[in-house]
Amino acid sequence: MDLQLSGKVAVVTGASKGIGLAVVRTLLAEGARVVAASRKTGAELDALTGADLVHVPVDLMDPEAPGRVVARAEEEFGGLDILVNNAGGPPPGVSLPRFGFLTPDDADWREMFEFNLFSVVRAVRAAVPLMLRRGGGAIVNVSSVLARQPAPMNVDYNAAKAGLNNLTKALSEEFGPQGIRVNTVSPGPARTAWWTEGGGAADILAAATGADRDAVMDSVAPEMMKLTTGRLADPQEIADVVALLVSPRSASTTGAEFAVDSGFLKAV
Ligand SMILES: NC(=O)c1ccc[n+]([C@@H]2O[C@H](COP(=O)([O-])OP(=O)(O)OC[C@H]3O[C@@H](n4cnc5c(N)ncnc54)[C@H](OP(=O)(O)O)[C@@H]3O)[C@@H](O)[C@H]2O)c1
Repeated sequence: MDLQLSGKVAVVTGASKGIGLAVVRTLLAEGARVVAASRKTGAELDALTGADLVHVPVDLMDPEAPGRVVARAEEEFGGLDILVNNAGGPPPGVSLPRFGFLTPDDADWREMFEFNLFSVVRAVRAAVPLMLRRGGGAIVNVSSVLARQPAPMNVDYNAAKAGLNNLTKALSEEFGPQGIRVNTVSPGPARTAWWTEGGGAADILAAATGADRDAVMDSVAPEMMKLTTGRLADPQEIADVVALLVSPRSASTTGAEFAVDSGFLKAV
């Protein structure tokens, strides 16, 4: 299927690893031009370097950063068609999962909302005028199934993502009549650096359960979370859904939420 993304200009945040990197790779393969944002680049993102890719090194905790990233799309490629707000998860210096409501303090809650909600608010605020100038655009906000499955684990993260889901729907209502589609993609557990890197989720759960880190990713976590497929998702499986949603092939899809969650959510 031709996704009709050739020549489109996209901003992707959290682009150096995991789901964001897979989105960048997919959009480039479909002929889009991409502004990729993360604090640092990495070997895998560097390997994609070419005329259609610009990396902007920013810390999205800085309130000015989202606007700077979006502005680069206009400077480098003359406008903006697509915004993928993928950056999220643990703010700088934090490891998740974090257990229990009493664990995060006010500062933790604030940082969580800065990264997972306010950075998106700022990126959308900068992107909408550029998209309106083009007659429309597509935004995908990467949320989490935990927005809809509250739990004592990561309570601040879950609340920030629930806010993101609400924001996404509101944006789709306000800007849909002007041609901007806004959708949510909600991953379940996915095998990214968040899980795999030293001190990441696999190590934290290994310490909590007494299992080794590979067993956590291969069987302990899938069983604990009752994943119907029996495995964590691959980042590419999430990127493929993002690519379809930002494509003109999804012209009638807005305000929707797509879970790519290995069957984590059980509600109808
Ligand atoms: N993996 C999962 O199990 C899972 C489950 C549900 C939802 N999600 C959601 O999926 C999205 C992507 O997660 P992921 O697991 O793919 O993440 P990841 O592999 O940990 O990658 C995070 C990306 O964000 C960048 N980043 C981190 N902090 C940043 C900051 N302060 N400013 C700018 N960039 C920053 C990282 O690059 P630098 O470190 O160089 O900045 C990296 O490119 C997030 O919104 C997350 O909440 C993930």
